[in-house]
Amino acid sequence: MTGTFIHTRLFACVTVKIRFNPTADASLSTTFSKTPTAHPMARLNDNFRKLKAGYLFPEIARRVKAFTDANPDAAKNIIRCGIGDVTEPLPNACREAMHAAIDELGTRERFHGYGPEQGYEFLRQAIVDHQFAGLGIAADEVFISDGSKCDTGNILDVFGPGNRIAITDPVYPVYVDTNVMAGNTGEANAAGAFEGLLYLPCTAENRFVPAIPAEKADLIYLCYPNNPTGATATREQLADWVTYARANGSIILYDAAYEVFIRDADVPRSIFEIDGAKECAIEFRSFSKIAGFTGVRCAYTIIPKALEGTLADGSRQAVHPLWSRRHSTKFNGASYPVQRGAAAIFTEAGKAEVAALISHYMGNAGLIREACEKAGLSVFGGENAPYVWVQCPAGIDSWGMFDKMLEQANVVVTPGAGFGAAGEGYFRVSAFNSRENVEEVCRRIAAHL
Ligand code: MLT
Repeated sequence: MTGTFIHTRLFACVTVKIRFNPTADASLSTTFSKTPTAHPMARLNDNFRKLKAGYLFPEIARRVKAFTDANPDAAKNIIRCGIGDVTEPLPNACREAMHAAIDELGTRERFHGYGPEQGYEFLRQAIVDHQFAGLGIAADEVFISDGSKCDTGNILDVFGPGNRIAITDPVYPVYVDTNVMAGNTGEANAAGAFEGLLYLPCTAENRFVPAIPAEKADLIYLCYPNNPTGATATREQLADWVTYARANGSIILYDAAYEVFIRDADVPRSIFEIDGAKECAIEFRSFSKIAGFTGVRCAYTIIPKALEGTLADGSRQAVHPLWSRRHSTKFNGASYPVQRGAAAIFTEAGKAEVAALISHYMGNAGLIREACEKAGLSVFGGENAPYVWVQCPAGIDSWGMFDKMLEQANVVVTPGAGFGAAGEGYFRVSAFNSRENVEEVCRRIAAHL
């Protein structure tokens, strides 16, 4: 069998033999053993050891499970206002479009195999027409994906080493953890702050919009409407960030996943409403919270062609072709039925259903705000965002508040400290729930806080 690949697994002695063309080169005949040897195993990414605990939401789920296992009666009573996961059904317009797309796939004539990696033109054009009208964004600057969580993490693939990363505190943990995994940080200190990151404190005093730093940052993560604080940034504040970024050669990674919740007409919905942002920003958007797509999975990222970075030799390079190369190498596109469902959001019927969904969740946010205020707590957010950010009562920290809400009120909230050191002293209540559950949460807040 000269020249033939032979792969034999001998379970009895847990040995795997792989032989390549033994007559050509006997040294390629190798025996691997599963028994420990003196040879070290393949190297792993040591950066993972810097991560302090599990990712926040699985960690919360673990703690809730431990509580419900120990208190089966309370388990039936639990209301989850922790992770911002939508609860209301998919709009009919989306479902109909997805059904029709599935039916197309059942015919030879209209079958779709691999789609364009960047996303179908019909969805990219609908996004530009309905979400970025008048902002000068072209359909080929839109990249469809399966989620903003993935995109905000994966974007690091196109950036080189040595960038100074600025991160708001508190913050959506994905930005921090993905930089840790990529080796862009040192170790964490006792407070959980990573060496090398430039933390931008967001406090009640600055209304959770950070001051422009005195030093240079290369990449700046901003998220408005903000997760977790529910704060919004004004046009002037975003303009200051764009000015700073252009002056320093920085790139703003702008997460606008919660844009649809903005009620106030003066609040900017996109960083690209700011002059000059196309030369210094990437924007992430998602269908998750707009129309119940957290399980369906569809999102998009805008990379303007005018955006450039610097290569090691000092030359300027547009970011768009790098992301395009990355996307087409590592991603085969969101599924056709999902993209059809997403596009249906922009039909007249879809828009009406989305408006009803958003007003439902924002009605919930208003009730939660009111209940917390009546309980005498300081309340932020919840007016242009589905998150209500609440100051803990005196003498109790944010994990203490998580425990109290879980054990006494049987309500799951998210401890502010889980979003960073500056989140200590706060907890987040998600407005994604049924009205019935939110009304019950409000009664329990009145009874226990
Ligand atoms: C949250 O609760 O912060 C969000 O659901 C997380 C996410 O969108 O990934």
